[in-house]
Amino acid sequence: MATIQPHGGTLINRVVEGAEREQLLIQAKELYQLPITAWAISDLDLIGVGAFSPLTGFMNEDDYKSVVENMRLANGTVWSIPITLAVTEEQEKAIQVGQEVALVGETDGVTYGLIKVESIYKVDQQHEAVKVFKTDDTAHPGVQKLYTKPATYIGGPIQVLNRPKPEKFEDFYFDPSETRRIFAEKGWRTVVGFQTRNPVHRAHEYIQKSAMEIVDALFLNPLVGETKSDDISADVRMKSYLVLLDNYYPKDRVFLGVFPAAMRYAGPREAIFHAMVRKNYGCTHFIVGRDHAGVGDYYGTYEAQEIFSNFTADELGITPLFFEHSFFCTKCGNMASSKTCPHSKEDHMTLSGTKVRALLRDGQCPPPQFTRPEVAQVLIDGMKEPEYQV
Ligand code: ADX
Repeated sequence: MATIQPHGGTLINRVVEGAEREQLLIQAKELYQLPITAWAISDLDLIGVGAFSPLTGFMNEDDYKSVVENMRLANGTVWSIPITLAVTEEQEKAIQVGQEVALVGETDGVTYGLIKVESIYKVDQQHEAVKVFKTDDTAHPGVQKLYTKPATYIGGPIQVLNRPKPEKFEDFYFDPSETRRIFAEKGWRTVVGFQTRNPVHRAHEYIQKSAMEIVDALFLNPLVGETKSDDISADVRMKSYLVLLDNYYPKDRVFLGVFPAAMRYAGPREAIFHAMVRKNYGCTHFIVGRDHAGVGDYYGTYEAQEIFSNFTADELGITPLFFEHSFFCTKCGNMASSKTCPHSKEDHMTLSGTKVRALLRDGQCPPPQFTRPEVAQVLIDGMKEPEYQV
C-alpha cells in the first residue's frame, strides 16, 4: 500500500551500520571531538532516521537564514524551526569549513556521529528569538534555552554512528521507516498524528476521537524529549497513555509511539514543524487544537492554526485538522466546543493546568468530565515521586 510522501520527497537515512560504521568509528578517534548536549543528540538522531526529512544535517547559514526569515529552507521547502548546532568560541577556533568533526555526548563520551562542516556562522539570537518565538522575553522557556547556547553555529551533513538508548519504554520507540511500514501493514490509508506533552485529558480524547471518526487510525505520538521542568514527566505520562488506551480506545485503530524530540514551545511555528515531522512518520493528517505548543500568553489561542494559511496544501503535503477549544458542557452532558454547544461559559467545565496539578499533588482526582479516573490515579501516583514534591 502506498504511504504518504515524506517531506521533500525522500525519507532521509543517515544512520551508518556494519563495517562502514566500524571504520568510521575508528576514523572518528582522529577527528576533533565536539561535545554535544542531550538536545543536540536527539536532533542528530532525528535527522539521521529521517524524522526531520529533508534535512540531512544541522542547518548551514543559508538554510538557517531562510528558515528564520521565511519559514522555508533555501530551496523553498517549508520548514519553520531552525535545527542548529552551537559551538563556543574556543571550539569554533578549532573547527574549519570542510573539516569532519566527531559529535560526542558531553556526559557519556559516546561518539554519536560525524558532521562534515559546510558552514560556520554567527547569529543574532535576539533576532532568532523574535522571529521564531515571537518574543525575546527571557521568561519564555524556548527563548531562555536559546540564550544559553553560544551564538555561533556550525552546519553541514551528518552521519549517525550510535543511537541514543531509551531509558524506559523502549518498545514505544519507532523510526519513521518503521511506523510507515506498520501503518501500511495494518492497511491504514489515513492516519491522524497527535502531538502531546501532557497527559491525555478528556478534551484531548474528544478531539482525537472526533478525528478518528473520519480517518482510519490515530498515531498517538507524545513528545518525550526535553520539556520544561514543570511539565509532567514522560515516564508518568506514558503510564497514563497506556491505561487510557487499554480502557477507552479500540486497539486496532490506535498506535502509540514516542517522539523523542525536545519541546521548543514555539507555538505556531512549532505546529508547522510538528506537522511536517508527523508526515515523515507516515501520518496523512495532523491535529492542531487550541494554543498548540504554546506556553503562557505568548500566542493567540488559534495562531498555531492560522499559520498554516501561509502555505499551500501541496507544500504542506499533510492535512491539518483544526479543533476549537473543547470542554465538557454540563447542559449538553457531553464534550463539545463552541462550534457544537449553544450554552454559556458558566455551563462549561474548564480547569487550568496549574489547578489540575494542584489537585493531583493533593491526591485528589480532577472531575471525571475532565480526566478519566484511571488516568488520574496514574498521575496521582506519579506526583508522589520526589521530583514533584516542591
Ligand atoms: S502541546 O504543547 O503538545 O501542543 P498539549 O499536549 O496540551 O500541548 O496539546 C496537544 C494537542 O491538543 C495540541 O494540538 C493542542 O492544541 C490540543 N489541545 C489541548 N487542549 C485542548 C483543548 N482543551 N481543546 C482543544 N484542543 C486542545
